[in-house]
Formats: sequence, structure tokens, C-alpha cells
Amino acid sequence: MDFVRAAVILSSLLVAALAQKPVLSIEPRSAAIKQDETISFRCRVVSGSQPVQLEWKRVNNQALGDNVKVGPDGSVLTIAYARPSNQGQYRCIATNAQGKTTINTVLTIKQVPKVWVTPSSPVMARMGGALSLECSASGKPRPSITWLKQEWGSENVLISTTTDTKLVLQMTVMAPEDAGMFVCRAQSSQGSAEEKVELRMAGGAEPRASVSQTDIKAVEGQMVTMHCQATGSPSPVISWSKLRAPLPWQHRAEGGTLTLTSVGRQDSGQYICNATNAAGYSEAYVQLEVDTPPYATSIPDQVVARRGETLRLQCIAHGSHPISYRWSRVGGASLSSGAKVTKDGMLTIAQLKVSDSGNYKCVASNHVGTGETFASVTVRA
Ligand SMILES: *[C@@H]1O[C@H](CO)[C@@H](O)[C@H](O)[C@H]1NC(C)=O
Repeated sequence: MDFVRAAVILSSLLVAALAQKPVLSIEPRSAAIKQDETISFRCRVVSGSQPVQLEWKRVNNQALGDNVKVGPDGSVLTIAYARPSNQGQYRCIATNAQGKTTINTVLTIKQVPKVWVTPSSPVMARMGGALSLECSASGKPRPSITWLKQEWGSENVLISTTTDTKLVLQMTVMAPEDAGMFVCRAQSSQGSAEEKVELRMAGGAEPRASVSQTDIKAVEGQMVTMHCQATGSPSPVISWSKLRAPLPWQHRAEGGTLTLTSVGRQDSGQYICNATNAAGYSEAYVQLEVDTPPYATSIPDQVVARRGETLRLQCIAHGSHPISYRWSRVGGASLSSGAKVTKDGMLTIAQLKVSDSGNYKCVASNHVGTGETFASVTVRA
């Protein structure tokens, strides 16, 4: 009897060991993906007596959603083109004759930032009036929020937060310059978003344009940048032109900034910044002077003459003034005693001798650089 009981207990222990509840693993244990990406979770039965039935549920008991599919054997859950509502915990449930086991995984949907600003643009302000601009942002991870003001073609940070989902900009309008373009920007590792609000003075304010530099000197080949700023309400639109000439071919105008990528002598002149709004327009001027080194030529550059004749060589140079000229002989010999050089580059040698034959060099110089040219002279007996 005892033996029989013992055998029954032993065999049921054996059965219990073999006939076991399912043991599960899940992969990945957690995931963070971007919106519109696709992800699969795999639930694996590590051990346990077959047959095992697999099933997926959301931990919050909501429906899986129409973009969520479970594979034919129940082990793979796929979420296609994920959206924010797919975020949350998912549970794999395994059932066999011995019971039920569950295992969870969690899905996070990263979201690019979004911003909303109230009131919406344009906002009317009156002198001495107080106002507040409110910016709200969403996104995962939580974005930083910043209020900026666009000025001088750049942006100045007014106020910033990394901890709140809302940022209020409060101010009192004291001067027409307080009007302008305000930007709320939300930024996270997932991207950035911004919304602009234009603050206008009620009744409008005429533009006032000014440039950061009224005179610019540059050397040929350099890049030149001109900055123009305008106050006024509504925010003036800035355009650039050149007095009595079109803008250089290689130019870029962006906001109040005009960039000339590689200036030449012909780009010298007066540039006009024109700021226009409904209340009027205003112009500001920049004088550009492009300096170039001299480009020299000799006229003539080959001479055949007879002894006793007079030699005349004119060195001509284009470039920024003033230009000075120097004639010399190539090879170190000095100019003959009868040689004269005028200020404008003319070399004269009266009473040519055979020994005046040879190569002559003209060096033209200005404050940017030098240029040289050669002439060959042959004197026959
Ligand atoms: C500036 O803009 C105003 C208004 O559009 C226009 O009347 C004026 O001629 C412009 N000035 C120049 C230099 O283009």
C-alpha cells in the first residue's frame, strides 16, 4: 500500500516536471521607434509542454489597432507605420494544459516636435501696451522651447526652457523697434519645428533702413557681405539693387544680407538696400570699392631700331590708382645714361646705342600688388 502511494506520488511529480507551464522570452524587451516606422516583437516558448497557444494583448486592454498584425503561429507581433496611439505595453500570453504565462514588452513612439502659438500672427500692439505670446510644444523626447526675435538677419534668443511644455513671452511695447518677427522653436533629437508671429504696431510704422557698414573696401576675388536692417510695422521686406547697374551675377540676397561671392573691379559702386512695407519705404546705401593689382602691358613690346634713333616704350596698367611705374633691364645691366622714365610709365632713350639692345621690364605697383610686362629691343648698327 505504502509502496503504491509512493509510486503514485513519484509519477505525478515526474508528470509535473514534464508537464510544465510555458516559459517565455520576448524580443526586444522594449523599443523606441519613429512615427511611420515598422517594428516586430517575437515571443518565444523556451520550454513547457505542448501544445501551447500564443496570444497578444495590450496591457491597457485596448484593441491592438488595425495596423497591428499577429503572425500565423502567434509568435510575431508586427506594428506597421507606427503612430502615437501604438505606444504602450504589449503582452504575450501563452496557454497550455498546465496554465498560463505572460511576458510584457514596451513600445515608445518618438515624435518630431510640433509647436502652437497663440495668439496667431499678426499680433497688433500699441505703444505702452502689454502682451503675452504663448508657445506650446509636443514631441517625444520632450523638445526644448525657445522664443527668438529676428534682427539684423540673425536671431536673438529671448527666453528658453527645457522643462516645460509651454513658454510664455511677456513684454511691454515701448518703441516701434519692439515690433517685428518673433519665432517660437521646439527642438529635440527628433528634429525641430517653429512658428512665427509678427508683432505689428497698430496704425503701422514707416520702415527705417540702416546698414551696418556704409563704406566697404575689398580686394579683387574676395567675398563681400553687406548687412541691412529695417524697423517698421508691418515688418518691411528688404530688397537690394545697385545704382545704375544690375547686381553682380554672383550674388545672394537673403533677408537683409547681400553676399557677393567673388568681387571684381566692375562690382565697385553704390548698393541700395530698400525696405518696404504698407506704410512706406526707406533706403540705405553701401559704397563698395574693389581694389585690383595692376595688369601691365608695354606698347610696343618688340622694337627694332637703328643706332642714334630714339626709343619710346609706354607701360600701361589697369588697376586701382595710384599706380607707379619702374623700368629696368632684364639681366642686371643698368639703363643707359640717356634713359628717362616719366610718372605715367613712358621710357625714352635718345641716341640709341647697340649696347641698348636687350629685354626691358616694366613693374607697375599700387597698394594691392604689382604687375609686370616685358619688351624686347634690338638696336642695329
Ligand atoms: C524702393 O521701393 C519703393 C517702393 O517699392 C520704390 O518706389 C523705390 O523706387 C525703390 N527704390 C529703389 C532704389 O529701388
